[in-house]
Amino acid sequence: MSTHDSIPFLDLVTPHRELESELTRVFQQVLRTAGFIGGPMVEAFEKAFASFCDTKYSVAISSGTDALRFALMACGVQPGDVVVTVPHTFIATTEAISQARALPEFVDIDEQTYNMDPEKLREYLESQCAADESGKLISRRSGKAVTAIIPVHLYGQCADMDPILELADRYGLIVIEDACQAHGAEYFSRKNNRWMKAGSIGRAAAFSFYPGKNLGACGEAGAVTTNDAALAEKIKMLRDHGQAKKYYHDVEGYNGRLDALQAGILHAKLLHLAKWNAQRRERAAEYNRLFAAADAALVPPYEPSWSRAIYHLYVVRTEDREGMMAHLKKAGIGTGIHYPIPLHLQKAYSGMGYLPGDFPVCEKVAAQIVSLPMYPQLTLEQQKRVVEEIVRFNESLALAKPTSGESIELATAERTA
Ligand SMILES: Cc1ncc(COP(=O)(O)O)c(C=O)c1O
Repeated sequence: MSTHDSIPFLDLVTPHRELESELTRVFQQVLRTAGFIGGPMVEAFEKAFASFCDTKYSVAISSGTDALRFALMACGVQPGDVVVTVPHTFIATTEAISQARALPEFVDIDEQTYNMDPEKLREYLESQCAADESGKLISRRSGKAVTAIIPVHLYGQCADMDPILELADRYGLIVIEDACQAHGAEYFSRKNNRWMKAGSIGRAAAFSFYPGKNLGACGEAGAVTTNDAALAEKIKMLRDHGQAKKYYHDVEGYNGRLDALQAGILHAKLLHLAKWNAQRRERAAEYNRLFAAADAALVPPYEPSWSRAIYHLYVVRTEDREGMMAHLKKAGIGTGIHYPIPLHLQKAYSGMGYLPGDFPVCEKVAAQIVSLPMYPQLTLEQQKRVVEEIVRFNESLALAKPTSGESIELATAERTA
């Protein structure tokens, strides 16, 4: 057993202790006005979050899953349409598609960024779809019309949006960003020759404020961002029982509003988000340096020149993932796997007819990834101990089997460039 203090995978207590008086004030304000649902606190947060994302509008929603569902519906995705996404994401991405009564289909991810591979998307659109007599793009797999794409900005890093948008444009498809893990991540668009914020690149984007996110509520919360005024209005109706005016229901909607308390809490925390994201980037750079110096046998995260990631998660790849996690657990260090089973192989989707081997990159990555402790309050000493324990584990492995056969591609030096 280690004599050190344990290092949690995620520390949600420290930031809330630090902000206790600010957050308590929000709670008092809500109690004193009894404005629990909607109202000025929600509107103020929406304005501030839109400004943070460089968008004209943000619509606060009760969760990221509903934000994604409402965005799909408001953008005009119809029941029975196909929405293309990746199998390497949290199931909420595909749940939102199904709940909009559309059908998810997958394309594989890029082995370095773990996000949608635009080349695989191109192959899918060119060879697995065909235009019908009316010009609609039909998926050969399901016989249904393909109408939208959801690239996921996983772990806080944007997908390569330029080629995805270009393909979407060529095929007339809607692009909705799943930015649920990417509050403040930036993408350099070669086409626009400027850095763009996650959430401002597609037609609309969904964010989650689940407590563990870079911007987390003290409960469930989400938002849609967009530059389209009509779309923002439609989403406001969908979240509020289809009404623009009380008890006048233009459509059947949902109970998908955000509580004023959560909006107030998020607004208070939003003022710290840029600093927290910068601290996460520093922690990630520190891990990269420590792993490179230790010549550790693992693949660190890859950040292309067009990306400024905000490290919602710091994910490495290693050959003996289970062994490494067990070793770290014994040393009191928390880890996670995001995500162990690709969506196309989940029991919930067994009816879709996908098979092992259909998305080989995703399947390979899912078997090797480990998420290490990552949060703004993580200290250099804690990071050093995480790296030391990983090196110790690797040494014990090397002793146990001196000549291991095939090894994971560990181009550590070139990947941290
Ligand atoms: C990639 C991704 N999409 C969607 C969601 C759904 O967000 P929520 O949990 O707020 O419904 C999450 C959150 O966990 C997520 O990580």
